[in-house]
Amino acid sequence: MMHNLSLDLYEAVDRDAMADAMDVMVAAFDPAYGEAWTLPQLAGVMTMPGTWLTIARIDATPLGFALVRSVLDECELLLLAVAPLWRGRGVGETLLHDSLRTARRKGITSMNLEVRASNNAIRLYEKAKFEFVHRRPGYYRGNDGQLYDALSFRIDMRI
Ligand SMILES: CC(C)(COP(=O)(O)OP(=O)(O)OC[C@H]1O[C@@H](n2cnc3c(N)ncnc32)[C@H](O)[C@@H]1OP(=O)(O)O)[C@@H](O)C(=O)NCCC(=O)NCCS
Repeated sequence: MMHNLSLDLYEAVDRDAMADAMDVMVAAFDPAYGEAWTLPQLAGVMTMPGTWLTIARIDATPLGFALVRSVLDECELLLLAVAPLWRGRGVGETLLHDSLRTARRKGITSMNLEVRASNNAIRLYEKAKFEFVHRRPGYYRGNDGQLYDALSFRIDMRI
């Protein structure tokens, strides 16, 4: 883990935390794929019980974040993003493992996620032992209207 990296957990609407997540969001997601969320979308999910946001920072600078929503003993990794300047140094992996730890602490037994089939992030999920479940054709719509398949992954945290 990077020296000085802090991981801050938010389980309810927090304006400053959401602003930091949005800074990373606009920098991290390629607009071509239409995957980034808007602030109202983020605020909406943060009002739901069982949602948590983890922000990785160095001092006050946000480097990345993970957003997870849980229902009973299952959860879904909704977003994972690291600002381009900070990639390739383990921040994404640290956020993923921290999200799994938080889930376990809450008694959650599985985590699901959807990822664009052409996204390099798949390597990160496979390295963390997520298993491929199925392909969803045309799940994402890019800004130009083009459709992209999603792959669904799952990890059983009881094993
Ligand atoms: C995916 C993302 C979060 C990875 O963040 P990161 O901090 O660069 O990732 P890490 O440095 O922790 O990498 C961990 C592992 O993931 C894999 N990985 C991450 N980025 C990769 C890339 N571009 N190409 C290949 N493998 C990659 C590698 O296996 C790496 O392990 P290694 O360095 O031991 O080989 C970041 O690239 C990102 O924000 N992408 C845009 C947003 C996005 O698409 N998010 C995922 C869908 S919600």
